[in-house]
Amino acid sequence: MKSAMTSVRDRLIVALDFPTPAKALALVSVLSDAVSIYKIGLQLYTAAGPEIVRAVAATGAKIFLDLKLHDIPNTVAKAVGAAGELGVQMLTIHLSGGRAMLEAAASAKSPSLSLLGVTVLTSSTQETLSETGVSSTLESQVIRLGQLGKDCGIGGLITSPHEVRVLRERLGSEITLITPGVRPAWAAADDQKRFTTPAEALKSGADYLVIGRPITAAADPRAAVERLLDEIAD
Ligand code: C5P
Repeated sequence: MKSAMTSVRDRLIVALDFPTPAKALALVSVLSDAVSIYKIGLQLYTAAGPEIVRAVAATGAKIFLDLKLHDIPNTVAKAVGAAGELGVQMLTIHLSGGRAMLEAAASAKSPSLSLLGVTVLTSSTQETLSETGVSSTLESQVIRLGQLGKDCGIGGLITSPHEVRVLRERLGSEITLITPGVRPAWAAADDQKRFTTPAEALKSGADYLVIGRPITAAADPRAAVERLLDEIAD
């Protein structure tokens, strides 16, 4: 999935966090050749189902399906198989589902599908971990789950920009690191708390950036993409 030749443009994933397929497709049409990967998450997928995946894929874009799978191994393996048939290129899975679930997922995936593991959600705090019976620090839990994912054949991780550097150091250059929680200097923070700029995230070792509202809520989304790419290039 990774290549040293990947251009900055191909490292941008735009989050289609919209309530209806019409709104999502209108943005895809405006961005057309400026963006090559779109993230379809729980909101849009629940509202619009596999049809929206097919419709965005039909424009030639790649699809990152962010469903954060976590279930018994057989069910997850079947869902991974179905996502492969649907034609998505990236699919998320919760690493806390454990070894058997992760291995079942890895063996059910088609070669063209990349599984991306979620370590600890960035909305979680140390208190969230304690309440759910996890006594490690947040950072060591992130590293432990990242290592487990790698051992089980999960090729990439979704990570906070603040954890990119340590994950890259611990897990090596082969693992693909994808980070949301990035904000260009000129954009509103929205509800993101511990964000970095896109350039900082890439410098720390991120392979892909997931960006939503700075583009999707911009008055001119295409100009926002161009500005963002210029900022990274600078
Ligand atoms: O609009 P914004 O750029 O904040 O969108 C970021 C996207 O990345 C959203 O789809 C959000 O759900 C997702 N995300 C995130 N933080 C995480 C995991 C996913 O912002 N830790």
